[in-house]
Amino acid sequence: MPIKRFNFLAAVLSLGLPPASAAPEEGSGTAAETPPDTITWDDGIAALIRRHCIECHRPGQSAPFALLRHSDVAARGGFLVEAVESGHMPPWLPERGGHAFIGQRGLSAEEIDRLRAWVQAGAPAGRNGGEPIPEPETDSRWQLGEPDIILRMEEAFEIPAANRDIYRAFVLSFDADSFPADLVRTARIPGSDVVGVSAVEVRPGNRRTVHHALVFVDSTGTARRLAAADTEPGYERFGDPGFEPSGFLGAYTPGSTPGRWPPGIADTLDLHGDIVLHMHYSPTGKTETDRTEIGIHLSREPVRRVTAPVRLGSFDLEIPPGAERHRVSDRFRLPADVFVLALTPHMHYLGRKVRVRARTPGGTEETLLEIRRWNFNWQDRYRLEEPVYLPAGTVVSAEWVFDNSADNPSNPSDPPRHVTFGPDSTDEMAEVHLDCIPLEPDDYGVLTEAMENAVRDAVRRLTPEQRKRYGFQ
Ligand code: HEC
Repeated sequence: MPIKRFNFLAAVLSLGLPPASAAPEEGSGTAAETPPDTITWDDGIAALIRRHCIECHRPGQSAPFALLRHSDVAARGGFLVEAVESGHMPPWLPERGGHAFIGQRGLSAEEIDRLRAWVQAGAPAGRNGGEPIPEPETDSRWQLGEPDIILRMEEAFEIPAANRDIYRAFVLSFDADSFPADLVRTARIPGSDVVGVSAVEVRPGNRRTVHHALVFVDSTGTARRLAAADTEPGYERFGDPGFEPSGFLGAYTPGSTPGRWPPGIADTLDLHGDIVLHMHYSPTGKTETDRTEIGIHLSREPVRRVTAPVRLGSFDLEIPPGAERHRVSDRFRLPADVFVLALTPHMHYLGRKVRVRARTPGGTEETLLEIRRWNFNWQDRYRLEEPVYLPAGTVVSAEWVFDNSADNPSNPSDPPRHVTFGPDSTDEMAEVHLDCIPLEPDDYGVLTEAMENAVRDAVRRLTPEQRKRYGFQ
């Protein structure tokens, strides 16, 4: 029925996705009017730093130094220009120029020129003598408004001062009977014990030490068992949460913008499951504690589509020591028309690049996401500002590139060693998780079945030795 399809498309494409940034274009037009030698802190640079840097570079946030005062910035001038020119700062992995993502960061070429010119001119303070950027009030409120349900780590976890990153998963058990009954009634997917979740916001208990967090749903009880077997709160785990998740509810990295799905679209939460917070803590040089909480927003209207995972990935990882550009790829042919809403790539420390492409049956080819400078520390769920429609028969493919040379400063093994698939920091993974919704509600079955077949084929392609190593018997 074309009418229904049109209405649904309109609902998906026109409603509810927030604009990438509410901030006005900074200084547009002023470059041409202002000769470079009059760029000062008070006239332009403070505003540029405020807009792009201080969400993290201020006391109590993730960055190691503040950039609020003229002297903070002037003293580091060349260093800051380098970090910005190289693309290291502000942190944002996807290449620009393709599809736009919500919460995208970065300076325009003109802004970089302006910062460089200011530093080269001796970083002048300007007419007010270099007024500091007022420290924004610490955001103690939820960015998406008051959640329907708040879950918190059961107890505070202590992060030792030692120079070691900590990867730990915490079970947030909950009692579904305590959820607001009227909201659960609306959000419940008919005939199931699953509710639709339109957004999850992670509120770190300690922004200095929480480097990233991933939120999974476990309906197997495995996470509980792993936590019970560990003497400290939670359990230690690096590359995956240690179970096959029945749902993925989102990611947090410093400065990331929590997103909400358009009305009628939702992630799924099994009312009999557990929520598992998979945390990465960076040491700060002194003992820190953290007790992170998450806020859940249930779907406020009947759920029309839940996100369905399309996973590209490979278990066939045999990365020889010294290999600088080891390529791995995977492809999947979509058996139904879908919209892609978000992409979450995953590799460990040898990851260098990842590119996700789509080729429609008509032969049109496009890049959905490209990262040329992968950084494990800044992985995220990238939500498209506009969902991308892909017709049935489209081949989605991913290519990952790994650098297992001694020149890779992130290489955890010295000297480099032969690396295979696995969850530890010295193993590797090659994955991309695409959050999709089928255009037709009846197409979930074919999508799931095709996905299961793809995984089965991937296992079949492994050597007997690999199957044994990974426990696929
Ligand atoms: C989303 C948070 C965030 C934003 C926004 C951000 N930074 Fe950073 N910055 C960090 C963190 C965390 C570190 C330390 C870890 C690292 O280097 O990745 C850092 C480190 C740095 C460093 C040291 C890099 C090095 O090689 O040691 C510089 C310089 C820097 N930032 C400059 C900037 C500038 C300039 C901006 C704005 C244009 C900016 N940052 C925006 C989080 C941020």
